[in-house]
Amino acid sequence: MSEHAKGLMGGLTNYGDPEFARYLRRSFAKSMGYTGESLDKPIVGICTTESGFNNCHRHFPELIEAVKRGVLAAGALPVTFPVISLGEVFLSPTSLVYRNLMAMAVEEMIRAQPMDSVVLLGGCDKTVPGLLMGALSAGKPASLVAAGPMMTGRHKGERLGACTDCRRFWGQFRAGSVDQEEIDRIEGRLATTAGTCAVMGTASTMALVAETLGMMLPGTSAIPAVHADRLRAAEETGALAAKMAVTGGPTPDKLVTRESVENALRVLMAVSGSTNAVIHLAAVAGRLGIDIELDRLNEISDETPVLVDLKPVGNGYMEDFHHAGGLDGVLQGIKDRLVRDCQDLTGLTMGERLDRELIDPIDPTFIRPASDPIDAQGGLIALKGSLAPGGAILKRAAATPELLEHEGRAVVFTSLDDLSARIDDPDLDVTADDVLVLQNAGPRSPSGMPEAGYLPIPKKLGRAGVKDMVRISDARMSGTAFGTIVLHVTPEADLGGPLALVRDGDRIRLSATHKSIDLLVSEEELERRRAELVEPKGEWDRGYRMLYRDHVLPATEGCDFDFLRKQG
Ligand code: FES
Repeated sequence: MSEHAKGLMGGLTNYGDPEFARYLRRSFAKSMGYTGESLDKPIVGICTTESGFNNCHRHFPELIEAVKRGVLAAGALPVTFPVISLGEVFLSPTSLVYRNLMAMAVEEMIRAQPMDSVVLLGGCDKTVPGLLMGALSAGKPASLVAAGPMMTGRHKGERLGACTDCRRFWGQFRAGSVDQEEIDRIEGRLATTAGTCAVMGTASTMALVAETLGMMLPGTSAIPAVHADRLRAAEETGALAAKMAVTGGPTPDKLVTRESVENALRVLMAVSGSTNAVIHLAAVAGRLGIDIELDRLNEISDETPVLVDLKPVGNGYMEDFHHAGGLDGVLQGIKDRLVRDCQDLTGLTMGERLDRELIDPIDPTFIRPASDPIDAQGGLIALKGSLAPGGAILKRAAATPELLEHEGRAVVFTSLDDLSARIDDPDLDVTADDVLVLQNAGPRSPSGMPEAGYLPIPKKLGRAGVKDMVRISDARMSGTAFGTIVLHVTPEADLGGPLALVRDGDRIRLSATHKSIDLLVSEEELERRRAELVEPKGEWDRGYRMLYRDHVLPATEGCDFDFLRKQG
């Protein structure tokens, strides 16, 4: 064993007698059938987020076998261990609330257990951020294998992919153009294979972000979940992890740097990725004391073209993206703006990667060249103004162009319950020019920052053909959704931010050009309303939820906990 690898003897349990601890640990390890020879090898931990409550990870048993094969063939001992899994649609109130719990479990289990390097297996929206956050803080050499995206299904000859098409058909069902029998049939056709959502949603975006940060084998983030190449990538990652266990590096802090975070932001813009990725990347970078300034995000957005034509804003699905060239295709299109000396876990620099000849040509149907972009500017921008002094996010690529400069009358919903009670009320005073405002859905609110920023179009307007309206909240939006939607308003309403002061009939102005969002109400009137605000009562008064409410940071700082973020 090398000087770096401590194997089974790393981090001994403390009985006040190290020799006894060694003897006891080997004895108990032998009870699992290991030979002494196996127990002398460097150890690669395989951190798995497999769970019966996570449909996206249902192929992990096969993936784990492939990682193990690679580790064993390279002369180390693979040891699998579970951590909390976060299946997006199976958690209440939201998966985001538990991302930090998962990150804490990942960090502590990597640190506490005897392993020399770790392979992280995740995919569904919050699992990749949770794994990265934990691994970055733990500091041991780490590599990531992503679940990979689902394949598409079919309905009446049309391709379907979770979950943009889930929303599209639900909108049609609400508008009355799809009946109950058809929506029941569609339900069984939207998500038909293992893997993560089939579009450029949060999971796919975060997999690309993780690869750009250097934490994954190059060229592997977008391989479909059920493709044999994904198993080969898992085996190769296992072999590399065995090497990393022996050499002791690279550790994540050598890969995740200010420069690689900026490269990841550029990829996020070029693929028109999920708004959630801004939160998760801020949380991941924050673990190493790297801040994402909103002004810098806007600069990067303004100078990075959108190259990828995928749903939710375009046409293709992740399987098309992979076959069109994947991340390499995107990197080629923005090569002039990338920092070249960032390294990945194989030692390859971004510059070397960009200079390599691609095996297959890039398919411009799904990944356009820089000379013919979908849009000359990036998909996401940060807004600031009197309604969001701390910032907000708008996915301009998913917005209706005519609504990007808009002033309208506020129609306010004070909570998710209020929204569901009144949004379809035939007597609701609302027109297509109004601005729908949702309060108390931010990170600290009892709703736990749900993906509710995609407020439904009131039924009576939907039936009249209205497809989009300006919608504003402190909530998030699914990476698979679209519309003119202002999210992550900071400070949130639960903390008494200006969003809490909006009342029905107030005028609100959105300007994507000026990157502003303003509440057009006098300061005196806002003061009067502020004085009337009642401090919300925390509903979460025990255990993890109390910890969450007391320590969660705003969306601009990734909704991490204040005590887990490294001060820069
Ligand atoms: Fe897991 Fe969409 S539900 S990625």
